[in-house]
Amino acid sequence: MAMYNDKVMEHFMHPHNAGDMENPSAVGEFGSPVCGDLMQIYLKIEDGIIVDAKFRTFGCGSAIASSSVATDMVKGKTLEEALALTNQNFVDELGGLPGPKLHCSMLSEQAIKRAIYNYAQEHGLELEGLKGYDPTVEDIDHGCEEE
Ligand code: FES
Repeated sequence: MAMYNDKVMEHFMHPHNAGDMENPSAVGEFGSPVCGDLMQIYLKIEDGIIVDAKFRTFGCGSAIASSSVATDMVKGKTLEEALALTNQNFVDELGGLPGPKLHCSMLSEQAIKRAIYNYAQEHGLELEGLKGYDPTVEDIDHGCEEE
């Protein structure tokens, strides 16, 4: 069992922004083929700004804690700013994750990218942060371990 710091435990036990959203502007989902963990993210977007974010994550403590900080962090950001966020930003915000669990945070990064990609497709937007993005990527080698 990996050792989590207090901040990770707090976000795991009391995750922010957990649950469904009515009429989201964008939905993104990313699942790990390795452990079967899955994150769904819902974004409310107004005038190019993410004004609200919710998530549902079926997965380990690291994935849930990462989803919690990730949804906190995308709020108030432009689509380009949100696309620039990486899993390392979420890990840093959490004060670190144990090595083997580091990459569980990749679910959040990829789910956010998919949501924004879907939104951009629907609205005909060309976003700098999506250049070279492959929406069909399934295994991003996030190296997660089952608990
Ligand atoms: Fe698969 Fe954490 S995301 S074990």
